[in-house]
Amino acid sequence: MVLRHNPSRDASSRMPAHSVIPPDRSPSVTTTILRIDAGRNTPSAANAGKNHYSAPRQVWAERRRVMEAQRAQFGPDGPRSLWRNRVFSAGLSAFYAGTRLVRLDGRGRRNALDIQLVSRSISFPDLPKSFDGYRILHLSDTHLDCLPELVPVAARLLAGIEVDLLALTGDIHGHHRAPLSASTGPLAELMKAVIVNDRRLAVLGNHDPADMVGALEELGFELLLNESTLLSRGKEHIVLTGLDDVHRFFTPHALGALSQSPQGFRIALVHSAEVADHAAAAEYSLYLCGHTHGGQICLPGGRPIIAHLLRCRHASIGLWKERNMTGYTSRGLGVGDVPLRFNSRGEICIITLRQAILAD
Ligand SMILES: [Fe+2]
Repeated sequence: MVLRHNPSRDASSRMPAHSVIPPDRSPSVTTTILRIDAGRNTPSAANAGKNHYSAPRQVWAERRRVMEAQRAQFGPDGPRSLWRNRVFSAGLSAFYAGTRLVRLDGRGRRNALDIQLVSRSISFPDLPKSFDGYRILHLSDTHLDCLPELVPVAARLLAGIEVDLLALTGDIHGHHRAPLSASTGPLAELMKAVIVNDRRLAVLGNHDPADMVGALEELGFELLLNESTLLSRGKEHIVLTGLDDVHRFFTPHALGALSQSPQGFRIALVHSAEVADHAAAAEYSLYLCGHTHGGQICLPGGRPIIAHLLRCRHASIGLWKERNMTGYTSRGLGVGDVPLRFNSRGEICIITLRQAILAD
């Protein structure tokens, strides 16, 4: 099932949703297009059209492109200063030059290619029984235009692995001036190694322009842009809500999508952890994100020097809790402008949902 929170209006009002037909469905999963008419948690009417670029999506894209052109940053707390980025970029460039000077760049590059397959089982008392054992392949921050040599390494790790759902939590692209095909081409290559029984869901990161939506749809992904989708098995369902990037492109629609999603076991897919507190307040059970690259360049022991989180900083790496919600921040598959890692390994994560057995 697909439910769509209307991203074109104020959070307090909604228009009929439009559809996305999932490209990759398992026979065991029922997928129906729904529309939200009014009031929280009241999905009604099924099977809308097949137009990916419905009016609300167009409105979202126009607003997103204006934000991209302004080169401004908006987070949940309002406009964000660009000076941090400038200082960070200058520092990173100096660091990269330094590693080349002392010939540490080769080692950093080898570290960046030394990625890990991580498996996590997470138990939830409210998980519907039919989703016990449900496997989610969580990919984040692929940035494959920055280091395309990651593709064969990641493909070897994924060979023979079968999952139910693929969740891609943003930053598919890396270099702002590179064509999108430089990142989506290698991603398409990597996708050949992945067996996904149900659906491929994605959200955008702060490096991804609005045009990334169409590029990912061509690869079989469904983009969630401040929207929710239902995944049903028999009479049970879970809800997945995906937000547009909240680190740079935050709008109130992101919080509207969290607070107005359907009831049930809910998973949030967001590029960064910076609205984890809002998701926890809205009683989400699981929050999957990336963005930090696990620090990418860390102190010995894996302590990040900079994690690029201006909120919810406790959620910079790995498993964490926010109220009753469990979160997982991926260290990301790829790297940013500087294709090196120190004391931080890239990762692909497979998360298995388990139904917790409550004691009498
Ligand atoms: Fe990233």
